[in-house]
Amino acid sequence: MDFGSAAKNANNWRRNSIIVNLKNPYNMKRIFIALLMVFLAGTGQAVWAQQKTLNSPDGKLELQFEVVDGVPSYSLFREGKPVVLPSKMGFTLEWRDDLAHAFVLKDTKYSTFDEVWHPVWGEEANIRNHYNEMLVTLEQPAGAVASADGRSKTMATVMQLRFRLYDDGLGFRYEFPQETLPILLRQEYPPKKDNALVCFWIKEELTEFAMTGDHTAWWIPGDYDTQEYNYTESRLSEIDSLWEKSHEHGGWPWTAFSRTGVQTALQMKTDDGLYINIHEAATLDYPTMHLNLDPKTLTFRAWLCPDAAGYKGRMQAPCHTPWRTIMVCDKATDVLRSRLILNLNEPCALEDVSWIHPVKYMGVWWEMISGKSTWNYTNEFPSVKLDETDYVHATPNGTHGANNANVRRYIDFAAKHGFDGLLIEGWNIGWEDWYGKQKEYVFDFLTPYPDFDLPALNKYAHEKGIRLIMHHESSASTINYEHWMEKAYTLMNQYGYDAVKGGYVGTIIPFGEGHYSQPINNHYHYAIVEAAKHHIMVNSHEAVRPTGLCRTWPNMIGNESAMGTEFRERIHPGHTAILPFTRLQGGPMDYTPGIFEPDMGKIVPWGKKMSHTICNQLGLYVTFYSPLQMAADFPEHYELYMDAFQFIKDVAVDWDTSIYIMAEPSDYIVTARHPKLSSINKAAEGVGTLSDGKKGVISNATRFVYAIPDTTNTFKHLNNNTLTPHDVWYIGGITDETAREVSVKLDFLKPGVKYEAIIYADAPDACGLPDDSEFRIQNSELKYNPQAYTITKKTVTSKSTLKLKMAPCGGFAVSIRSL
Ligand code: NOJ
Ligand code: CA
Repeated sequence: MDFGSAAKNANNWRRNSIIVNLKNPYNMKRIFIALLMVFLAGTGQAVWAQQKTLNSPDGKLELQFEVVDGVPSYSLFREGKPVVLPSKMGFTLEWRDDLAHAFVLKDTKYSTFDEVWHPVWGEEANIRNHYNEMLVTLEQPAGAVASADGRSKTMATVMQLRFRLYDDGLGFRYEFPQETLPILLRQEYPPKKDNALVCFWIKEELTEFAMTGDHTAWWIPGDYDTQEYNYTESRLSEIDSLWEKSHEHGGWPWTAFSRTGVQTALQMKTDDGLYINIHEAATLDYPTMHLNLDPKTLTFRAWLCPDAAGYKGRMQAPCHTPWRTIMVCDKATDVLRSRLILNLNEPCALEDVSWIHPVKYMGVWWEMISGKSTWNYTNEFPSVKLDETDYVHATPNGTHGANNANVRRYIDFAAKHGFDGLLIEGWNIGWEDWYGKQKEYVFDFLTPYPDFDLPALNKYAHEKGIRLIMHHESSASTINYEHWMEKAYTLMNQYGYDAVKGGYVGTIIPFGEGHYSQPINNHYHYAIVEAAKHHIMVNSHEAVRPTGLCRTWPNMIGNESAMGTEFRERIHPGHTAILPFTRLQGGPMDYTPGIFEPDMGKIVPWGKKMSHTICNQLGLYVTFYSPLQMAADFPEHYELYMDAFQFIKDVAVDWDTSIYIMAEPSDYIVTARHPKLSSINKAAEGVGTLSDGKKGVISNATRFVYAIPDTTNTFKHLNNNTLTPHDVWYIGGITDETAREVSVKLDFLKPGVKYEAIIYADAPDACGLPDDSEFRIQNSELKYNPQAYTITKKTVTSKSTLKLKMAPCGGFAVSIRSL
């Protein structure tokens, strides 16, 4: 079928479909049922056939679903009060009548589910997945709608809605089955064997989220290419007028679609103090969902990211959409505690996860971000053609960060202080000509610069107990990355890299795609699945924001997908106090904390001051969950503050229990966490011989041998069950531009046990807010003084309360260890 004639046909059938064919016996039946229902409603009897309800396990949330004049719609209540007003559901499709009308409710099935599962890594060791489910089967009966392929004339179109109601929120998705479905009133239809929908293209998803009022919202603008924005706090009705401002200091490229478009996870708070969070879970083979607000009705509608041809999902039944999620909590800390997104994802797809492990790492990275050194090796080539450019004879620029001597310096420091890994960026050829050029072939991910001895540096690192972390900046050329991926992963295996940081800076290639369209979301997933085959853990930057897929693919140990530390002075105070409510709901973030020298002007003349104190950075290691945590600053900066650096060395990155003590979006967060013993490198489970003859630990992933860091008591514990580890807790606190004093009860400690607490706190004269900051609202007598802190030791028990002060843009960190 050529495109032109298909379009003409489409117009014809669309016009025809408006006329109700009264000769069709099914239409006669529909009219009869409709009249009967009107009659029943008039007599006060329930219109049972078209309205269904579902309650959460604790009975507080209630979902109501109904089909009104053929249109599916849902609403959500908490303790009898509406949270989401009646909101329509459905799709418009290409070459077919909408999947948004002419529906009849055919069947409803209820079930309940309750299990505890154990993530490979996470904020807690045991996660309860407890929900009540309602599966609703809807039909557009044969002949009720028209389609270009004619199937809907003779077959019913079946769409199911699966609702899962948890105590803390709702998940629902659309499903399109292909198998024969149970049919009520079968005798009235020709026997149905199929769903008229087979392959179909989505023009718009029509899912609505009708809000009950002009809530306060923390939002970033809708965009097909970047999530690297500061959050704006405003009423829903103010989104339009704040649209320009919301783009200030953001990432690039940006591709907006509407002045009232916002991204998820969208955190809101009602005037009654209810926290509502809209997001999605398990986004696979589907575009990312943004939301577009109708400011008059305060109703959001799903806004999917289109592909290059403008389609918003190319579907092949049987298939389903991602989950649409609405979290509803009456405490801010419950939003942080919620596992709604993870629970809606499928269980782990990998049988062997022994090669996956948490990573605390440093990097030859901040040097390039700060401007101290460069990714590129030479300044000679304005135009690089990888197969032709002669790097061997090029003159080095003298500023290349990833050179052998510098990398060795970082390896030595990271090894001395017990880190697991070291990221090195700018190790491979192509960086002279990588940015903003929309070149398809920018990198080969295989060829090191002449001053980066890949085999020798890996050997050096392994012998010191460090694994190098690979860097694959694709420059958003997904085509090129897929072309080289297998070879690139094989090279990693060959030299013992078990983790890669990916990057998607720039405009996506294939041209016309955005960062979050269905084909590009599929690319990110492909990279994860292929990496798993090579026992490689992945941390992607600029990829789509996560939707809990790390439950299924735990080798996805990090993502950036939000404004991270690299934005430096552009980061607003309070940014890190909103991210756990929003971006982190879908999975951990590689935020890259730990900047001890926030005055970038001390590094390069054009540098500006970042808004945080050293203790704020320490607090992030606990308030921000990630199994991949970086100490991002230079070794020479840490060397100036070794007593504070001790906290970064000590803190764990994987936990069995997390307690969210107090929080308010964008204001402050205080969290306590209890580590898993397995926070130590899980891959280290055998013993081998190092090249110097000493015994070392063997990775069961790639059989490389590592030195055992001699300070690691935990290894002794593993090899000798008679050793009992100390009971350990970590507490972290962060605040925005407002200084705060908080009281933290230690009632989570074991009763009757004495602990030592080491408290890292902002000094009384500390202030993380630059003197000229637009956010200076109080404490103006305080001058920018980000490196002033105190470290005190105290004996505490479960009956103790700690009083902790946080400076503007400050925070605190506490290590607690049983005596
Ligand atoms: C952007 C990433 O977020 C950053 O971490 C990285 O250094 C650069 N791209 C270069 O790949
Ligand atoms: Ca980035």
